[in-house]
Amino acid sequence: MHDNPFRPGFGISPPLLAGRDALLAEWREVLGLGAWSPFRAALVTGMRGVGKTVLLNAVEDEARGRGWTVVHGTLHVGLVEALERDRLPALLQAQDPEAYARELTGVTLPQLGGATTQVVPQYPREPRLESMLARLVELTEARGAGVLLSLDEVAVESMQELRRIAIAVQHLLREDRRVAIVAAGVPASIAAALEADGLTFFRRAQQVRLDTLTLAEARAAIAEPVRAHGRSIGEAALERAARASEGYPFLVQTIGARAWEHRPADDEITADAVEHAVEVAYATMGESVIVPALRGLSGRDRDYLLAMAEDDGPATTADVAERMGATSGNAGRQRARLLDAGVIVVPGRGLVDFAIPRMREHLREHPHDAQLGLPTAARRTFRD
Ligand SMILES: Nc1ncnc2c1ncn2[C@@H]1O[C@H](COP(=O)(O)OP(=O)(O)O)[C@@H](O)[C@H]1O
Ligand SMILES: [Mg+2]
Repeated sequence: MHDNPFRPGFGISPPLLAGRDALLAEWREVLGLGAWSPFRAALVTGMRGVGKTVLLNAVEDEARGRGWTVVHGTLHVGLVEALERDRLPALLQAQDPEAYARELTGVTLPQLGGATTQVVPQYPREPRLESMLARLVELTEARGAGVLLSLDEVAVESMQELRRIAIAVQHLLREDRRVAIVAAGVPASIAAALEADGLTFFRRAQQVRLDTLTLAEARAAIAEPVRAHGRSIGEAALERAARASEGYPFLVQTIGARAWEHRPADDEITADAVEHAVEVAYATMGESVIVPALRGLSGRDRDYLLAMAEDDGPATTADVAERMGATSGNAGRQRARLLDAGVIVVPGRGLVDFAIPRMREHLREHPHDAQLGLPTAARRTFRD
C-alpha cells in the first residue's frame, strides 16, 4: 500500500539527506558565478556507510541543475582509459556541434521517419585526457557552466589513475577555468592519496570529513520521509529509532526501512515496529559494515580492537597496551593506523573508542572475526 521511502544499503540517495546542507551550500558557491572557493578541489572522507557516495550524488545533482557537465567515475584501474576512449568522447559528441561531421548517407521512406546520419568523430585517434577535458571545459564555459569531476572510492590500488586525472584538472584549475573536482574515499585511502607522489595537488584541496548525524538530524531523517509518505511515527518510537541509529546514516536507513515494512498497512509506525527494526538492523551491521572494515586491518590492529572491546565505553590507551602485552609505543602505532582507517576515534586525551556503531558488541560476540576477518555467516554455514 505504501512504498517504503527508506534506502538501506550503499550508494542509493536517501529520501532526506540530513545534516549536509551547509556542505552543499559550499558546493553551490563553487557552481555559481561567485569568487574562487577552496571547494573547487575537495576530498571527502569518512567511514563506510557515513554517506560519502550519496553526498557526491547530491553535489552532482546540484551541478547538473546548473547546467554543468558531470564526469562521474568510480576509481579503478582502467578508469582513465575508459574516460579517454568512451566517456569523454560521448560527452564531447553531445556538446560539440562542430566535432562531428554529419554525413547524410541515405534517405528512408518519409513515413518511416527521416534520414540516417553517419557520425564521424574527430577525437578518437590520440585520446588525451588533458586535451579532451580542456575542450569539454571550453564548451561548457561557452554555455556559462563548467565541468564537475566526481570520483568515488579512492583506493590505494588506483592511485595512478587518480594521479593522471589530478594532473589534468590541476592544469585547468591553475588557469582558473570552470572546473571542479571532488574525490571520496575511506580515511586510510585518502591518507594514502595525500602522501602519494604526484598528488601534492590534493594536499591543498579542501578536506571534508563526514561525521555521523546529530540526534536531531537522525530524527528528521526518519520522521520527515515517514510523514511525507502519508504515515506517522509516535514520539517514543521516533526517539528510540534515532538513538539506536547512533546517527550512523546506514543504520538510519536500515532501521527506517525495517520499521516501515513491519506492519505496512498500519498508519502509525509503533514502538514495537521500531524495536523489531533495530534488532534486524543491528544484525546486518556485521556483514555489511564491520567485517568489511576489519578485513583491511592487520592481525595486530585487530588485537588492539579486541583489547578495546573489553571496556563498555572509551578505553584508556594504557589499558589497551597492557591487555595486548605491548609497550605503549608499539600500541601507539596500531592506534595511529586505526585512526587513519577511520575505525577508532579519540574522544579525549589518552582515550580511544570505536568509530563504527555496534563494533564493540560485534567483536564481543564474534571475536573470531577479529582474528580471521571472515564473514560470520560463512563460518556458521561451514560449521553446520
Ligand atoms: N545525510 C544522510 N541522511 C540520511 N541518510 C543518509 C545520509 N547519508 C547517507 N545516508 C544513507 O546511508 C547509507 C550509506 O550511504 P553511502 O553514501 O553509500 O555511504 P558511503 O559511501 O560513505 O559508504 C545509504 O543507505 C544512504 O542512503
Ligand atoms: Mg560509497
